Amino acid sequence: MTAHPPAHPAPPAPAHPALRTADPELAALIGAEERLQADTLRLIPSENYVSAAVLEATGTVLQNKYSEGYPGRRYYEGQQNIDLVETLAVERARALFGVEHANVQPYSGSPANLAAYLAFAAPGDTVLGMSLPMGGHLTHGWGVSATGTWFRGVQYGVRGPVTSEGGGRIDFDEVRDLARKERPKIIFCGGTAVPRTIDFAAFGEIAREVGAVLVADIAHIAGLVAGGAHPSPVPHADVIATTTHKTLRGPRGAMLMSRATHAKAIDKAVFPGLQGGPHNHTTAAIAVALREAAAPSFRDYAHAVVANAKALAEALLARGFDLVSGGTDNHLVLIDLTSKEVPGKVAAKALDRAGIVVNHNTVPFDPRKPFDPSGIRIGTPSLTSRGLGTEQMPRVAEWINRGVSAAAKGDEEALAAIRTEVAELMAAYPAPGLATAG
Ligand SMILES: Cc1ncc(COP(=O)(O)O)c(C=O)c1O
Repeated sequence: MTAHPPAHPAPPAPAHPALRTADPELAALIGAEERLQADTLRLIPSENYVSAAVLEATGTVLQNKYSEGYPGRRYYEGQQNIDLVETLAVERARALFGVEHANVQPYSGSPANLAAYLAFAAPGDTVLGMSLPMGGHLTHGWGVSATGTWFRGVQYGVRGPVTSEGGGRIDFDEVRDLARKERPKIIFCGGTAVPRTIDFAAFGEIAREVGAVLVADIAHIAGLVAGGAHPSPVPHADVIATTTHKTLRGPRGAMLMSRATHAKAIDKAVFPGLQGGPHNHTTAAIAVALREAAAPSFRDYAHAVVANAKALAEALLARGFDLVSGGTDNHLVLIDLTSKEVPGKVAAKALDRAGIVVNHNTVPFDPRKPFDPSGIRIGTPSLTSRGLGTEQMPRVAEWINRGVSAAAKGDEEALAAIRTEVAELMAAYPAPGLATAG
């Protein structure tokens, strides 16, 4: 007897059945977040949508296991499977980025950077990094971070005027002068609000001249590097630090990669220097993400992220927005709202009410305070994961334009109208990994 499909297929089973029963309150919050991520246009450049496979790997029994040490050298028994999982992640990282050594255990980007300090500097030593208000990360020696209190952080910036073509870019004369004068143990390059290509070769030359270890922090651009849409730091940097959850589209985690000569120092710094047991479920999800990033379709994704960001920048410039460095080479656009007479935070909160999620951000040489800066930071990794293309970027720019004008006037009706239009478009582009998608 042949089985026939039912005339009316059953609707998909509700997500998280065990959680709904055990903790309905929390399940409801997760459901609400899924809905929010489905309905809104998420433009925060450090965020993304991971695949269902990456999500599944993070929610596995691997999280039940303690594994201090490294494959074949653990302090706990029962590592038959975990060793293979971690080795798979390490081998995939080495193959994807073309590095001799990879450590996939850092809990996140900040501890990964701290491990680099532990490996190559001593408390009180000088380190050179890009300053936070210029686009660098807290962990590159900024004062409020442990890296700026336990180490002597010397900071470089960008050239002005920041919104001009040619301005808003790293001032290599300053980097070279500071490096020669201060003789840092470590030089950090890379950042969190850098819209232009990082010249790893120029940093490598300066680091070699002064005998510093060059750490390329590619947290933001790792997916672009893996997909061939940004030059690789591998020939120039001693150490490469990255988060795994931004453009690389993996779980929240991090990796440290290096030449074989630094392998021992890095491994020792991560464990036992800084951490205990690795998060094996995260390691597994990193392995999945690295496999996905090695597929030809990921190269298309990385190039589409950049094409979308460039198209969005053009469409914003056409609407009179000032952009730091006059545009973008990567996934990120930094908007200076000074000429629009709307502070960054006011604009970001209004856009949020319009279903467009961004973050307020300082712009280099910002006359305003960091809690209430002049800019907003946007990016295209998430919308590209949903399949939006360059043809939609003028519409996105127009929503931002209308949202910023509405923020200036306090026009809540206009923001609500944008929210409806955004949700309509988003419904046509289901997000990977979301149970509510489609
Ligand atoms: C360049 C850079 N490095 C490091 C980090 C720190 O990563 P995490 O937030 O995972 O600690 C970030 C996070 O935004 C970053 O942008």
